Amino acid sequence: MPDALKLLATRRSFKAGELAGPAPSAAEIDTLLTIASRVPDHGKLTPWRFIVFEGEARRSAGAAIAAAFRAKYPDAKSEHVEAEGARLLRAPLVIAVVSRAAPHVKIPEWEQVLSAGAAAMSLVLAAHALGYGANWITEWYAYDRGALDALGLAPHERIAGFVHIGRPPGPPEDRPRPPLDAIATRFSG
Ligand SMILES: Cc1cc2nc3c(=O)[nH]c(=O)nc-3n(C[C@H](O)[C@H](O)[C@H](O)COP(=O)(O)O)c2cc1C
Repeated sequence: MPDALKLLATRRSFKAGELAGPAPSAAEIDTLLTIASRVPDHGKLTPWRFIVFEGEARRSAGAAIAAAFRAKYPDAKSEHVEAEGARLLRAPLVIAVVSRAAPHVKIPEWEQVLSAGAAAMSLVLAAHALGYGANWITEWYAYDRGALDALGLAPHERIAGFVHIGRPPGPPEDRPRPPLDAIATRFSG
């Protein structure tokens, strides 16, 4: 099998907490972002952007998530609030893929959203190609306005994913994949 296909065929997610440091270098992060931004984009609108969380910035972003959690659940136990503050500390690097999809005279918003999904997938694959593991997750704070405001998202922006990246513990155990005959048909008129 050609190397590129082997790479695609062996990708699988790791749990965020399994991804260890050291984090990708600044040059590797540039590579990740360059690959992630090389995706189909109808109308060349660049309907996505990235937010990089690394080092201590993961802690301050976590504090914003914890504050949003406290605002949502004022009676929550302090241990729980503290745990929410550690959300982005599970992996040494987290890159948020932000959809900037908006109504457009020609390009359907749906296609702009799909382009953000493609960017997130390319980011995951680029991490895999560099020898890192990745986990594309959203979790509750991707849908919480207070958390999104604190992370700097404009009102029309949405989180496509918080892609967690780090060194994997070893080769992953695969999960069953859908059989092709259950998901693909040949159109026969
Ligand atoms: C948009 C999106 C959001 C996701 N959010 C979560 C999440 O919040 N928590 C989670 O456990 N998995 C989430 N997943 C699923 C994982 O990324 C992953 O696909 C899953 O663990 C299966 O692993 P695999 O990639 O090896 O098939 C999400 C996937 C997508 C596409």
